[in-house]
Amino acid sequence: MTDSQKTILSCIQPTGDMHLGNYFGAVKNWVDLQAEYRCYYGVVDYHAMTMPYDPKKLRNNTWELIYNLLAVGVKTDNLFIQSLVPEHTELCWIFNCFCSFGNLSRMTQFKDKSTQSKETSKEDFISAGIFDYPVLQAADILVYKASAVPVGGDQDQHLELSRTIAQRFNNQVGKEYFVLPETLHTETPKILSTADPSKKMSKSAGEKHYISLFSPEERIRKQIKSAVTDTGESTDGEMSPGIANLFLLMKAAGKDLENGATHLTAHDQLMDHYKSGDLKYVDLKEATAQALVDLTNKFKANKEALIQDKKAVKNQIKASSSEIRKVAQTTLREVKELTGLLNVKM
Ligand code: TRP
Repeated sequence: MTDSQKTILSCIQPTGDMHLGNYFGAVKNWVDLQAEYRCYYGVVDYHAMTMPYDPKKLRNNTWELIYNLLAVGVKTDNLFIQSLVPEHTELCWIFNCFCSFGNLSRMTQFKDKSTQSKETSKEDFISAGIFDYPVLQAADILVYKASAVPVGGDQDQHLELSRTIAQRFNNQVGKEYFVLPETLHTETPKILSTADPSKKMSKSAGEKHYISLFSPEERIRKQIKSAVTDTGESTDGEMSPGIANLFLLMKAAGKDLENGATHLTAHDQLMDHYKSGDLKYVDLKEATAQALVDLTNKFKANKEALIQDKKAVKNQIKASSSEIRKVAQTTLREVKELTGLLNVKM
């Protein structure tokens, strides 16, 4: 397969705020891939129901994530909402019958999440949905016959399962119907929590551990100002993770800004100071905050403009979802044909 024929698919759960870690680690890559490939990007609300949740919040979070993704440069035509394409869940059922219980029991994310759910929620409730989640993920991918899936390393096992399901399906129907989707690992900056640079920046660790892309300027400056630079552990002459994280953020923001050259020059000068042992942390922090503020201001302005007319955006996303759905419908018709199910004439 030549690169230009690749179909890219990735999905993100609507679980609240988008932070610098999500953006630089994943979504920025989604935006860049659009220039070269046919891309499908889904906001997967069915996945967000697998853990205890609040229905009102789910719908709000779904639209909020749509605005955020559009504001950072995901194109409307490539974006869909999973529950507007019911073929995902229809294919999931069919795949359930091509996936062994044993395979699902071995998923490490299930083991982690089910213990986490036992610890954090009052009721001892582990849904069958959280167990079955990787099968829905396989359906998300294969319903578009995606050939490459840009995800982080934590999704490798799920991708492997998608290939196992596709393979078993192909064997059972006696035809190489599904292409086996590959994982696309792009080098992306791994952003750490500024409050505790021994951890990844993530929402699950709590509010102070992530910097939201759409926070007010003042909060971003404050969070960078209070960034932990020294964890007290010896780093054997190496740069401490907290300092490295600030340099990384500054460079990533500088690269992403059209007129980011001044930030990149400032970055290099600060690095020279670091090397000669006279870097002032306040200078690094101020410069990093400025670069981040410049970048996030751009996104905030885009979002402001979008939410002026929410109805128009919602209609566009409904339209793009139904356009994308046509691809899924074709797959489902073929799959039902191959598996002995009935099709209604459409
Ligand atoms: N499981 C992914 C996550 O937790 C989200 C996801 C759902 C996904 N369906 C997908 C990612 C399909 C890639 C392809 O991050």
